[in-house]
Amino acid sequence: MTVPRGALKRVSQLRGEIERHNYQYYVLDQPLISDAEYDRLFRELQELEASHPELITPDSPTQRVGGRGLDAFEPVRHAVPMLSIRTETDTEDSGAIKFDARIRRELGLVATDPPVEYLAELKFDGLAISLRYELGVLVRAATRGDGETGEDVTQNIRTIRCIPLRLRHDPPAVLEARGEVYMRREDFKRLNEAQRASGERVFVNLRNAAAGGVRQLDPKITAGRPLSFSAYGLGAVAGWALPSTHSGVLDALAAFGLPVSSERTVALGAEGLAAFHRDIGARRDKLPFDIDGVVYKVNSLELQRRLGFVTREPRWAVAHKFPAEEAISQVLAIDVQVGRTGALTPVARLKPVFVGGVTVTNATLHNEDEIRRKDVHVGDTVVVRRAGDVIPEVARAISERRSPHARRFVMPAKCPVCGSAVRRLEDEAVARCTAGLFCPAQRKQALRHFASRRAMNIEGLGEKLIDQLVDSGLVATPADLYELGAGALEGLGRMAEKSAGKVIAAIERSKRTTLARFIYALGIRNVGESTARDLARHFGGIDALIAVDAEALEEVPDVGPVVAESIAQFLAERHNREVISELLAAGMSLEAAAVDAAESSDVKGKTFVLTGTLPSLTRDEAKARIEARGGRVSGAVSKKTDYVVAGSDPGSKHDKAEQLGVTILDEEGLLKLLK
Ligand code: IVH
Repeated sequence: MTVPRGALKRVSQLRGEIERHNYQYYVLDQPLISDAEYDRLFRELQELEASHPELITPDSPTQRVGGRGLDAFEPVRHAVPMLSIRTETDTEDSGAIKFDARIRRELGLVATDPPVEYLAELKFDGLAISLRYELGVLVRAATRGDGETGEDVTQNIRTIRCIPLRLRHDPPAVLEARGEVYMRREDFKRLNEAQRASGERVFVNLRNAAAGGVRQLDPKITAGRPLSFSAYGLGAVAGWALPSTHSGVLDALAAFGLPVSSERTVALGAEGLAAFHRDIGARRDKLPFDIDGVVYKVNSLELQRRLGFVTREPRWAVAHKFPAEEAISQVLAIDVQVGRTGALTPVARLKPVFVGGVTVTNATLHNEDEIRRKDVHVGDTVVVRRAGDVIPEVARAISERRSPHARRFVMPAKCPVCGSAVRRLEDEAVARCTAGLFCPAQRKQALRHFASRRAMNIEGLGEKLIDQLVDSGLVATPADLYELGAGALEGLGRMAEKSAGKVIAAIERSKRTTLARFIYALGIRNVGESTARDLARHFGGIDALIAVDAEALEEVPDVGPVVAESIAQFLAERHNREVISELLAAGMSLEAAAVDAAESSDVKGKTFVLTGTLPSLTRDEAKARIEARGGRVSGAVSKKTDYVVAGSDPGSKHDKAEQLGVTILDEEGLLKLLK
């Protein structure tokens, strides 16, 4: 049978185009056409191949999922053994320093010799695979196995979209590319959600999901697992003049159309390696996949040859690990905490577990829906995650390991602290205790907020003391604070006369404050510092605010219906109005709006953190100017930071500020503030 010339030409055209779009989409992550257009090209090719089956070739993009299920994987002998690398778990810079020192010693370098050039890259957490291309066509893919002999997983690897079935440009006669099959976090999450929805097993972690996906005997199952690949080295090669450096090899692999992570850098000496380790460590939880460390390699292939191997490990490479971000533990109980606005937050009490560099015993479960979504039962074996400085959380339950004694969590119908009714509004994820300030838990939180630095700023009135005051019945509302005498505080035990006197003096001092701070201190839902300032400016006095209705509130700039409703509700509560009257009766002296406006734009008393390089000011200049206006400059970002001033290359302080919701300024913003 003859094939029409037109069909032959169109088939090869379509393949070329589809390959190009695969590369754009899966390797570069820069699609040039819509999914629908891609699907149209793909269908056209499928139809042409269906009417002319003799045109089908194994490297056609339609042939990724072919082949039958296997009984077992065939063994594959690696022409060049697949080695592993030595691993260091030292923290911070010492891993880089030790490795560099060892390399210099092995090469016989002395202190006056220039720094060694390295290539630093990511240590992917997945399964090592060797891809063999002959004349540019993928002919075999094998696992590492024992390093000498692996398993033939070609059918499965072909289903991974970012792995080209045919290389681009001018590939060598033989090219074995080695790298890691892994799974992206987003894909993992989607896969697990689908598994759970269909009642199938949930994967413990990305690594297991990736490794398990590759080792399926039925390639159709692998095709349903969203896997990715990143190349980091070579196996056997023929017909190619090798580049002289490892970075050159990676560039070449990328040019052949293989995915190579762009998170790689040529680093000079121990300092260059340590800088890469720090940089990746700070950004680790923002990467779209899990890594368990970084890898340092001597860049020159000639030096690599000179350094050689010790047993199964090359002397020229080392993996510098990070502390694990996930660990397995057990949920001993699920407690419910009550917050300032009455929100009930379930918290898992865990068997202590070391994760992300600390021992974790509690982890938030956020709310009821989250518990259902993650399917966490009391008694479950769970994966605990602590990434960066983020609060530890239960990532997922391993339901396969559930004991018959595990219990489902039920949100209590009554507040665990005060016994009042719990209500969950239809459009809200959180359940709340309805008792407001009658609930001791909410009372404590409300008092903590009232006394906090940015509200009434009562020094010495901390969490412990507030708990004692509420538990002993001495204080129920903020107004009660102003009735306290030093004697009452001393009566609480463990409080010396002198410190009791200090707290009383601080309470007394707090009476002189601004209207804005006072409004903020009341802890009205949805009224933050800036809304409190707007209200103070608009009403000019507390009496005018108390007398207002919801409609009039919406006339305040930046106050919308939700905020107006919160304020109206707060003021409609008799108890709240009583507390305000009592506070005023205690002798508050509230400075009016104009002063607040000035204070709000002021630098006085505020804490700044500087990071990165500013365009015109040096650090010392910026610091001096802030301090001249009564501000403070600190080295580390915390909840107490008011502003982070970020220049170029800001580093981890900028990220931390974002996490904590701290205002970030550029130099211009700072100068405006200083005016
Ligand atoms: S190089 C001859 N580079 O970690 C050196 N390995 O024991 C061969 N891995 O089996 C390995 N990321 O599965 C290298 N950037 C990277 C890597 C990497 C992950 C894995 C690989 C290897 C194991 C090291």
